Amino acid sequence: MSVSALRPPADAMPSPPRAATLAIDYSRVRAATLAHCEGLEAEDTAIQSMPNASPLKWHLAHTSWFFETFVLLRDARYRPRRPGWDFLFNSYYQGVRPLHARAQRGLLSRPTLADVVAYRAEVDAAMLGRIADGVDAEAGALIRLGLEHEQQHQELMMMDLLHLFSLNPLEPRYRHAAVPPAGMATPLRWLDGRSGIVHIGATATEAFAFDNERPRHRVLLDPHRIANRLVTNGEYRAFIADGGYRRPSLWLSDGWAAVQAQGWQHPLYWSADLDSEYTLYGRIALDPDRPVCHVSHYEADAYARWAGARLPGEAEWEDFAAQHAQEDSDDAAPRLLPRAAETTAGVAQLFGDCWQWTASAYLPYPRFQPLAGAVGEYNGKFMSGQFVLRGSACVTPAGHARLSYRNFYYPHDRWQFAGIRLAQDA
Ligand SMILES: [Fe+2]
Repeated sequence: MSVSALRPPADAMPSPPRAATLAIDYSRVRAATLAHCEGLEAEDTAIQSMPNASPLKWHLAHTSWFFETFVLLRDARYRPRRPGWDFLFNSYYQGVRPLHARAQRGLLSRPTLADVVAYRAEVDAAMLGRIADGVDAEAGALIRLGLEHEQQHQELMMMDLLHLFSLNPLEPRYRHAAVPPAGMATPLRWLDGRSGIVHIGATATEAFAFDNERPRHRVLLDPHRIANRLVTNGEYRAFIADGGYRRPSLWLSDGWAAVQAQGWQHPLYWSADLDSEYTLYGRIALDPDRPVCHVSHYEADAYARWAGARLPGEAEWEDFAAQHAQEDSDDAAPRLLPRAAETTAGVAQLFGDCWQWTASAYLPYPRFQPLAGAVGEYNGKFMSGQFVLRGSACVTPAGHARLSYRNFYYPHDRWQFAGIRLAQDA
């Protein structure tokens, strides 16, 4: 049975109050999550390809659990729609309840996809009722957080599905449309970043920002340059041809250990002959002009060293993006494949193609304050051993990215849509 067949009829869904922006935003984001499952079958949504990835069915339920737990249960009269499911669909909020083992999410044939989609609809009805009744500022902020959280899961669903499909010898395609043309990459140019004291972090007037983007604060930058575009597949192939994966002098010690242990010889989804890559459009010819994608921090760092450069610090990246965001004509609409940097003037690919690894460890900003209550576990507790990525990717929902956005992954992670923007000391 396909996912679209399980969608409740339109007249079963409460219509959002026209005047309520929050209700409209809520309905739009929730519908977009289900739309990500268009064309998939129930079997596609139940399997887990690795402990880091989750079944799509789990994402559909977990994002609903988030609203039940952090918004609906604020009213003591509310009764959870599916008693017992909170154990299954809590992700990592230890302060809420005990939770199911992450690596075993793919063992849950029950609840079925149909059960989960029905649960979503019931949570939606309760949420839209709550919004229509009027919510206080705190509940409004939690609903906004829940919507941003859900958009993060929309991107995770595309990452996890691509990884799952990539392990299937039949090489299923998620998107059956013609592959969008890559375009021709503009020559690499270096632009001076600003040096001296700059400010980074979410401004007080930002409509929404996660706690990890605050507070805005001062940073001292030394003279440096940053590349106008991302590293291309063609450039990365030259790194491989030059023995990039066989020269320990190019690698961080942990990175070289990962190369040895994992047998890395190319980015995650490239074929062994370096001629094709597996994408959400299925297997496609490797286009030398598209940006290289699905590389670890270790690979990005090794490439930069080979190229006589380095990765930008996150403050360098953010200040550079603030200076040049107007030149990046990207519409940031999810297109499932990164495009070549065609702009001949200015800066390209800040947003909407590949997240960009930085040299910065994911740490709290000075005077960081996590959110109050159980949602304080959202970001802060992950500030150990991970690196910051900036920008956004071709699977990031439109409107979700910001200059101050801090994404973060472990340096060995490769299944996220991560690429490389180079920097240099000046
Ligand atoms: Fe989550």
